[in-house]
Amino acid sequence: MTKLAIVYYSATGTVDAMARRAAETAEKAGAEVRLRHVKETAPEEAVQSQDAWVQHRADVTDEPDAEPDDLDWADAVLIGTPTRFGSAASQLQGFIDTLGPLWSQGRLADKVYAAFTASQTAHGGQESTLLGLYANFAHWGGLIVPPGYTDPSKFVDGNPYGVGHVTGPENNAPLEDADRDALDHLVTRLLDVAQRLAA
Ligand SMILES: Cc1cc2nc3c(=O)[nH]c(=O)nc-3n(C[C@H](O)[C@H](O)[C@H](O)COP(=O)(O)O)c2cc1C
Repeated sequence: MTKLAIVYYSATGTVDAMARRAAETAEKAGAEVRLRHVKETAPEEAVQSQDAWVQHRADVTDEPDAEPDDLDWADAVLIGTPTRFGSAASQLQGFIDTLGPLWSQGRLADKVYAAFTASQTAHGGQESTLLGLYANFAHWGGLIVPPGYTDPSKFVDGNPYGVGHVTGPENNAPLEDADRDALDHLVTRLLDVAQRLAA
């Protein structure tokens, strides 16, 4: 059974919905999944400034925070983050910055990695966010598994680097079939490559 860690940050629930879809698909495919949000580090006044942010914190308050051990445990790692000025959210990057001890022992190497993101606009930096995360994976000696155009769904969502959902003008557009198909393909492919490596 492939062990998959889905580690993500979400302020207002979009990336959380993407992470949950990926987890559901991975479990159906027979993987053992740890779905872990990265803990909130924004000042309380920032959280309180948006109802959706307050609501999302409440929704996940009883769920476990991501720990470095989740990556140590995993064979396959899927990372999710909102796009923030074309990069990963600082909350996620802060978690990544706690991984030095694992990295120095080579314990992040030789696993398969991929990533997904959300942004308000279609050309708002999804690709730079994903590529920035992939630079981290390269430093770890991770095996990056981009989706490329290896499935018809990629010609619909058009993102060969990972998966990106566009939240739209009101910043709250729900996932559509194209997002779900692309997430399903990303996670299925990641598990497939992990299984082939383990064989
Ligand atoms: C500080 C900040 C920076 C953002 N930067 C971008 C950006 O560069 N491009 C973009 O399209 N959307 C940007 N957004 C919108 C977020 O990407 C969007 O709210 C997020 O994907 C929603 O995910 P969540 O619901 O999981 O938090 C930004 C939002 C914030 C708060």
